[in-house]
Amino acid sequence: MSDGVKTNGLAGWIDARFPMTKMWEEHVSKYYAPRNFNVWYYFGSLAMLVLVNQILTGIWLTMNYNPSAEGAFSSVLYIMRDVEWGWLIRYMHSTGASAFFIVIYLHMFRALLYGSYKKPRELIWLFGMLIYLVLMAEAFMGYLLPWGQMSYWGAQVITSLFGAIPGFGDALATWIRGDYNISGVTLNRFFALHVIALPLVLVFLVIAHILALHEVGSNNPDGIDIKKNKDSNGVPKDGIPFHPYYTVKDTFGVGVFLFFFAAVIFFAPEFGGLFLEKPNFEPADPLATPDHIAPVWYFTAFYSILRAVPDKFLGVVAMGAAIFLLFLLPWIDRGRVRSIRYRGLGYKIALALFAIAFVFLSYLGLQAPSMEILGWTVTTWARICSAVYFAFFAFLLIYTLFGLEKTKPVPERVKH
Ligand code: HEM
Repeated sequence: MSDGVKTNGLAGWIDARFPMTKMWEEHVSKYYAPRNFNVWYYFGSLAMLVLVNQILTGIWLTMNYNPSAEGAFSSVLYIMRDVEWGWLIRYMHSTGASAFFIVIYLHMFRALLYGSYKKPRELIWLFGMLIYLVLMAEAFMGYLLPWGQMSYWGAQVITSLFGAIPGFGDALATWIRGDYNISGVTLNRFFALHVIALPLVLVFLVIAHILALHEVGSNNPDGIDIKKNKDSNGVPKDGIPFHPYYTVKDTFGVGVFLFFFAAVIFFAPEFGGLFLEKPNFEPADPLATPDHIAPVWYFTAFYSILRAVPDKFLGVVAMGAAIFLLFLLPWIDRGRVRSIRYRGLGYKIALALFAIAFVFLSYLGLQAPSMEILGWTVTTWARICSAVYFAFFAFLLIYTLFGLEKTKPVPERVKH
């Protein structure tokens, strides 16, 4: 039994029946995290905050939302105009969706910077990637619910991608939609999945993610294993208790985040058509296709890769591969040094190019394919960036497998 366990009072009564103090100590007050966390380490706790925000605002939206093809669009208008504070709840939820992806992309990039996916943290990464997949499904289904033009046609385009699979593709797409086209049936099942099934899976995955993290301990910007240097009490010399040190630090991060979050909600909730797209202010019309259909910004990197390939099925394969390769990252990267601080120049350049390609692909996916940038069409640029995206993985494998990386010596203890 842990030394802090209470024996009297209410806490003692609970501790005799439930591992309250034991869990608090194991995961918070006696969880020793490296003392050198920097700004990149804010995004895990922020992701948890946004998840809670989405669940709470989602529950309140559900109280006035009507999940039917006839009532959905006007029920959202009703929430915006008539429900007390409905506009705030809705903007918190719609802005929260974009904030979620901003936070998650930065959180994932941190893992690439400091090799946090490497042994022994492969499972943390795999749980993370599963979270990312489920989050994409969650956002995609949520986007159909306001039943605007972009909701309808976006869902139509994405579900029809399954139709590109040879043989059973069409049957699969019909099965997913529950109809030959997107209809009220699709809306009902997306609603069920969006409000209960996927959030439940997300919460379980986040718990697994944190348990896996606490089993092996956090990585850090130096990529050093702090458990190798312990004092006579068995406490890592470079570790500090999560509480109060990181609870206080994370609270500061929450403050900064809420400042920007509130600024967007109150002053630019549509964010120039990026967070809430303009065609979605018109009700869904199955007879009128919008001029230009694009998914929300957080999907457009993969959408660009899809459009870069002329054949629809191969495009779907390329898009799937782009995501699947990320799952394999712990095994593709055979380098022994974790942190970018001590990795070879080749990795630094490759990671920079990869990040630029990803951001540029996201931008390209929002534009019409025929638009020209510096004399080349969006499609040509998307092909170049897709090549850079895939080349990153090939380069990383060759670079680390054949010992081409010239690393710097990793210090024994964390630096600052
Ligand atoms: C709902 C979404 C998520 C939540 C709530 C979440 C939460 C967290 C938290 C609280 C931490 C510890 C603090 C930190 O290192 O920032 C963490 C660490 C980590 N997460 Fe996530 N995460 C999420 C999604 C993801 C995704 C999508 C990935 C990658 C695919 C990922 C990969 C990692 C890795 C590798 C670590 C260990 C980092 C290290 O020790 O350096 N997470 N996560």
